[in-house]
Amino acid sequence: MRLRNLFVITLAALISVSIIVYAFAKDNKYFQEKQSDNKNLPGNPLDGRIVFEKNKCINCHSINGTGGKIGPDFNSDNFLSGDYDLITEMWNHSPKMLKMIDQMNANQQKISAKDFRRLRYFISFLGYMSKTGNVSQGRDLFVQMRCNECHSVGKTIPGKIDLNKTGYNASPVNLAQTMWNHAAEMNQKQKASNIKISVFKGNDFTNLAAYLESISVQGKKKSLMFPGNPVLGEKLFNSKNCAECHLKENIGISFNNINLHKSVIEIAGMMWNHSGLMESAMGEHKISWPTLKDNEMGNLIAYLYYYNSEQVNGSVEEGQKMLESKGCLNCHFKGNKYKTLSAADIKPFDNVDELFSKLWEHIPIIQMEFYSGGKALPKLTPGEVKSIYLYFNRTTR
Ligand code: HEC
Ligand code: HEC
Ligand code: HEC
Ligand code: HEC
Repeated sequence: MRLRNLFVITLAALISVSIIVYAFAKDNKYFQEKQSDNKNLPGNPLDGRIVFEKNKCINCHSINGTGGKIGPDFNSDNFLSGDYDLITEMWNHSPKMLKMIDQMNANQQKISAKDFRRLRYFISFLGYMSKTGNVSQGRDLFVQMRCNECHSVGKTIPGKIDLNKTGYNASPVNLAQTMWNHAAEMNQKQKASNIKISVFKGNDFTNLAAYLESISVQGKKKSLMFPGNPVLGEKLFNSKNCAECHLKENIGISFNNINLHKSVIEIAGMMWNHSGLMESAMGEHKISWPTLKDNEMGNLIAYLYYYNSEQVNGSVEEGQKMLESKGCLNCHFKGNKYKTLSAADIKPFDNVDELFSKLWEHIPIIQMEFYSGGKALPKLTPGEVKSIYLYFNRTTR
């Protein structure tokens, strides 16, 4: 119990000091909203922390420093983003990991397909969390980016637009959202005053938000931000016309070609940096500027974060070759001593996690087979696991 509380606290701290995460409360209405049928997106990516504890991963691994110290720490710099990454790493590290689990007299835990998916999304989500903001860097940015030429904060300056209200609510995502909503006026004014629109990178939004919050005179009330609900984000992506350009009409860049596995703040920066181009494209296509409220920006970004996590090459033909070269066919042939299915007869899976769950479960038997033959477990890459999946799910049989 104590460990769990600690765990919750570090995760909350991870997202940002000015953000309080409510996602852990069971009665949280936010996550009880009806979720779409899309099996591939998590409603609450942090759900998987329960699997991480239940399956005792936390006994050996820590999340951002909290938890066991035997295995590597998972954090915003060390996370596994692609769909096939977690199973691949677990497989490749299983010789040492399973030995240790044995030594601790623990049993290797089975992981159901549903739990595997939750675990995968949870570890992958650690890259979404942004680092804590730095007030003095934010103060410098406010001047470098020339915000101060049009805005005042702390004390009101006649002729300048006051940002105290924003500062009061300044979680970084709220700041990005407020700016996004005013992008049109702001871009226009900047053009007219010959001020180049500032380019946001890295942690800039977080630092600026930290500064605005520190100096805002309206008092201190921490603003809330939920970690982002990708399922709701997907709906917004359609209802706010983002899909119109980015999926249907192919206006702007295809998200398949860019890396969206960045922190929430970096993605907010990407949106802001392109707001000028998007604004003119929207004008041309008579699409009104999509304003966002409450947690909508966070939800949209959480959706974008998972947008192309499947991006890895694989093919049915490669998969067939892998079954041979990785030694799967040593057992998966007709009439094998384990009385298990031949590879050609293994039925298609409903989703990748069903395969991951099966693979993980029988690593010990596979290891035994290899070790008794004096060989090491062959390593896998995410692309190879994808190919194996594609082979099992091939349409021509
Ligand atoms: C008994 C301790 C122990 C348990 C329990 C354990 N691990 Fe590990 N894990 C390790 C060790 C040790 C390594 C490093 C192995 C190596 O160096 O090859 C590791 C490595 C990994 C890696 C590779 C990490 C990287 O940065 O490349 C992943 C992923 C992983 N474990 C996931 C899990 C998950 C998920 C669970 C729970 C289902 C789990 N582990 C349970 C000890 C453990
Ligand atoms: C050339 C002038 C100009 C510059 C430079 C500028 N802004 Fe603005 N900003 C505006 C205008 C105009 C508005 C719209 C005001 C309105 O709608 O009332 C605005 C609105 C905003 C708002 C919404 C205010 C509210 O309370 O609704 C925020 C937040 C904001 N700007 C932040 C920034 C930040 C941060 C920077 C620096 C990166 C910046 N602005 C740079 C002109 C500018
Ligand atoms: C009218 C068409 C249009 C609509 C609607 C639209 N976009 Fe864009 N988007 C663009 C264009 C054009 C670019 C600039 C692409 C480039 O740099 O070549 C862009 C760029 C982006 C980028 C930056 C990609 C990069 O390379 O960094 C993101 C993220 C993005 N859009 C998200 C969204 C979201 C979220 C919505 C809905 C709220 C949305 N867009 C709505 C046209 C649109
Ligand atoms: C040492 C023998 C052995 C090797 C090597 C082996 N498997 Fe298996 N496999 C089994 C046994 C036994 C079962 C059934 C028992 C179980 O589910 O744990 C099984 C079950 C499976 C299943 C589940 C089939 C179903 O529909 O229930 C899949 C998928 C699978 N193996 C894939 C692979 C892949 C991919 C490889 C190679 C990377 C591989 N196996 C290597 C013995 C092996």
